[in-house]
Amino acid sequence: MTAVLSADPTIVEAALGARSYEIVIGRGLIGSLGFRIAALRPGAKTAIVTDENVARHHLAAVEAALAEAGVATSRIIVPVGEGSKSFRPFEQVCEALVAARIERGDLVIALGGGVIGDLAGFAASVVRRGIDYVQVPTRLLAQVDSSVGGKTAINSAHGKNLIGAFHQPILVLADTATLDTLPARQFRAGYAEVAKYGLLGDAAFFFWLEANWSRVFKGGNARGDLAREHAIAVSCRAKAAIVARDERETGERALLNLGHTFGHALEAACGFSDRLLHGEAVAAGMALAFEFSARLGLIPISEADRAIRHLAEVGLPTRPQDIPGGLPTLDRLMELIAQDKKVKRGMPTFILVRGIGAAFVESGVDQAQVRAFLSDKLAGQ
Ligand SMILES: NC(=O)c1ccc[n+]([C@@H]2O[C@H](COP(=O)([O-])OP(=O)(O)OC[C@H]3O[C@@H](n4cnc5c(N)ncnc54)[C@H](O)[C@@H]3O)[C@@H](O)[C@H]2O)c1
Ligand SMILES: [Zn+2]
Repeated sequence: MTAVLSADPTIVEAALGARSYEIVIGRGLIGSLGFRIAALRPGAKTAIVTDENVARHHLAAVEAALAEAGVATSRIIVPVGEGSKSFRPFEQVCEALVAARIERGDLVIALGGGVIGDLAGFAASVVRRGIDYVQVPTRLLAQVDSSVGGKTAINSAHGKNLIGAFHQPILVLADTATLDTLPARQFRAGYAEVAKYGLLGDAAFFFWLEANWSRVFKGGNARGDLAREHAIAVSCRAKAAIVARDERETGERALLNLGHTFGHALEAACGFSDRLLHGEAVAAGMALAFEFSARLGLIPISEADRAIRHLAEVGLPTRPQDIPGGLPTLDRLMELIAQDKKVKRGMPTFILVRGIGAAFVESGVDQAQVRAFLSDKLAGQ
């Protein structure tokens, strides 16, 4: 990789007492990974877990950085895709870590997107009763969301992320240059989670995104524009702060699910396929959450329109009709919402808003109101 460091990295602290760690954000940071690991854990061996695709783009640079700092390493490469978050690949990764003689005091390095972070993090949480790990997220979604907060999991036949553990990394290194190899659609989908932090708790950040989103999309490259790094740092700071206050999601952490109740239902209706990426579903779900909040009289419709206008401007779907390949039925959507994992004692939890930057958790939403609202939305009203 030929990326150059364009400025000192930004460091965000995840303040979790004895489990605190730094999230280091900047362009070209992979080159410093070996030295950071050697400083944090002198003498530790490492094993890199990655997928075939990320390996092609970024593994050589990571291995070179480790070698330069004298850090011993081995590699475990899994197939691309969500299928790797299941028992068989999980077993293979665990066995490979044991075979590589990764012991207590050594480190697992998760190099990739959310699938790799969840899989490698969960393997690290159980092999030898727990090994520390480092997250090197290579997708925007992973840099602003899945690599921070310590949720790790694989999927069960009964649903996504049902088998896992809370296991915090000891370092997150987000090299923004790795995002240059992401397809534009993937970057845009990840951006939905960036906008989410503004919409749920930081109006000033949302207004900054309205003015600067195209700089975030372009990235700094050699020109030294740090808008992308800023957006990622603000997002990580927001997530880290919420996680620090509610690590195990007993309350406030649920705010991070803004757009996810409606979004997951749409994503599931599309069979978790390429028709609708997770971030795209979240964008459409946030648009629905804002409109539904307006319908309930919590915000003026102009406030919902402003939020939706920005998501549409960057090219994200905001209406069920924007999803290619036909609409699910109302019954199907209601069924999927009822199955959502955020359902508590039969009542789905919704994240609603009292304005841009002012989300709150509501578990007493009337099903009939949701149904009437979605019926109108599916009819294009
Ligand atoms: N733990 C959490 O808090 C959390 C939060 C959100 C999502 N997740 C999980 O994340 C998973 C989805 O993650 P994902 O969407 O990142 O999927 P993914 O990890 O499969 O990545 C998607 C694709 O992007 C490719 N890719 C990654 N980095 C690349 C790069 N720099 N250049 C080119 N291609 C690259 C991958 O090879 C893959 O083909 C889901 O399983 C979800 O449950 C976890
Ligand atoms: Zn999400």
